[in-house]
Amino acid sequence: MCGIFGYIGPKQVSNMLVEGLRRLEYRGYDSTGIAVKNGNISIFKKVGKVADMESILPRAIHGTVGIAHTRWATHGGVTDENAHPHESFDSKVVIVHNGIIENSRSLRKHLVSQGIELNSETDSEALAHMIAIELNQDNNPLEAVKRCLKSAIGTWGLCALFKEHDVIVVARNGSPIVLGQGDGETFVSSDPHALTPHTQRVVYLDDGQVAVLDSNGIEVSRLHGGQIDTNVTLLENEWGVADLGDYSHFMLKEIYEQPEALRQCVRGRMDLATGNGRLRGLKIKPAELRKVPHIRIIGCGTALHAGMIGQLVIEKMARLPAVSHVASEFRHNDPVIDPEALHFAISQSGETADTLSAVKEIQLKGGQVHGVVNVVGSTIARQCGTGVYIHSGPEQAVASTKAFSNMVAALSMFAIQIARSRDLTKEKAIEYISALEEIPDLIEQYLQDQGPIMEAVDALKDAKSVLFLGRGVSAPVAAEGALKLMEVAYIPCLAYPAGEMKHGPIALLEKGSPVVIIAPDDHVKQKTISAIHECRARGAKIILIHEQGDDISQEGDISIAVPKVHNLFSPLLTVVPLQLIAYHTALQLGCDVDRPRNLAKSVTVE
Ligand code: AGP
Repeated sequence: MCGIFGYIGPKQVSNMLVEGLRRLEYRGYDSTGIAVKNGNISIFKKVGKVADMESILPRAIHGTVGIAHTRWATHGGVTDENAHPHESFDSKVVIVHNGIIENSRSLRKHLVSQGIELNSETDSEALAHMIAIELNQDNNPLEAVKRCLKSAIGTWGLCALFKEHDVIVVARNGSPIVLGQGDGETFVSSDPHALTPHTQRVVYLDDGQVAVLDSNGIEVSRLHGGQIDTNVTLLENEWGVADLGDYSHFMLKEIYEQPEALRQCVRGRMDLATGNGRLRGLKIKPAELRKVPHIRIIGCGTALHAGMIGQLVIEKMARLPAVSHVASEFRHNDPVIDPEALHFAISQSGETADTLSAVKEIQLKGGQVHGVVNVVGSTIARQCGTGVYIHSGPEQAVASTKAFSNMVAALSMFAIQIARSRDLTKEKAIEYISALEEIPDLIEQYLQDQGPIMEAVDALKDAKSVLFLGRGVSAPVAAEGALKLMEVAYIPCLAYPAGEMKHGPIALLEKGSPVVIIAPDDHVKQKTISAIHECRARGAKIILIHEQGDDISQEGDISIAVPKVHNLFSPLLTVVPLQLIAYHTALQLGCDVDRPRNLAKSVTVE
């Protein structure tokens, strides 16, 4: 949530700041701003996206030190004044901040009592004034930031720029910050993704750490203690390209990238000859896997839906109780944690605050938690220490697509691995692995012949609301389809397990109400057909996602066929038309597909 980028070195900085923000825009895009040091510190900020801010920049801004921010509003409305950077009363300090300062009311009150005028409604602005007050004591930027933060309660990824010092001071507590080391130049970002054009050498700041950057390097210390060694990590090259290429939107590009992303995820991790899994990042021996009493999977949004499918696949293959949890509820429900049980924190960004809190809760109570994460080196990945990277490559569209598929695939591979440590036969495991390895080709096949997607879009685009139904592994697919359509096309959607419809949502149906039903040819198909009949009897219009060659196609007003696949893996096929429906509906309605209103790609506040 919110993106930070900064640079100190010999190069002119303004274009680099704008480019850095472009790569971070998916984190938040209410308003944008940059600050460049050039004797004084010049600030340019504006409501809207990076391009809106760029339109107010003068032709040339001289300066080789700067910081930049793209905002997702928490405190204070979306206005130019509330956009970052924020400047201190004496113009000597300029800051950008991610996170929430919980005691900002009292800090702001105290500043006002000292005669300081506040120019925004934000919690962040107070930090700029407080640092400036501290700086007047000893003219030491690092100590000024440290003293200021000792009075602050909350979370921060903070960068401070100083009119009279050639340094950037950076601090982290609960909001990601990664530093980049180039040759004679140093970078800071909230996301390694913005650093990759400049350097592969990065330092991940941990909570409670503060760093001073100059063009020669990085010095890290603790907010409440001494100096610490800087551990430089090399970013992996395999992260891939994050440019649009020939596609009109990242969402469409990422839908089409699913087959290749899945190949990356599965490659080298399954042994077809022995039927064994090789998820080495988990660091769990088969003997330990055998003793696991149950599994819990925790995530938000799309990650949660992938976890709900993983739960069913694990339970079915390994005959082991598995349950998924909404991450934002988990910690607050004071869960009982069994130290023998396995927990998975599932997250594309690896920065989702709700999921991270659940990880910490499990660890606090002595439990083992493994990450199922896309972004290498992200906070959740590092906090867990062990896990499975899903290798989707960069996902730029706010609406998650290819990460969903890879999360399902990663959990399915784990299911095979743990099931093999128990009673799953080699033959059955080989059957599952072959089926999983076939899926990328099947998705490609589907993408070449997508069926009547545009007819479905016509039926949905003017709907007051849409009901999504599915059973078994298709119930979370229904939830994912509803989430996609809701977040990119702003149509109210309700997802229910098909059997639950008659217990309430059926009241919504009237003549012409669109109902999207996911019904692959599995053991619950006949039951789903009953739900279709119940909907039809009330005049609903059925948009049916089914498998090729299945007679059920006659049950739909609009029937979209996907290639037939092993029952447990059908979500990897059935979700694709739902993603396409959401994408095309949003386009028809003129919505900003990649940057839907009010959302952000990684939600780093609870
Ligand atoms: C997905 O389309 C959503 N934008 C959102 O629900 C997302 O899946 C959720 O915020 C979790 O994000 P994460 O995977 O990065 O943890």
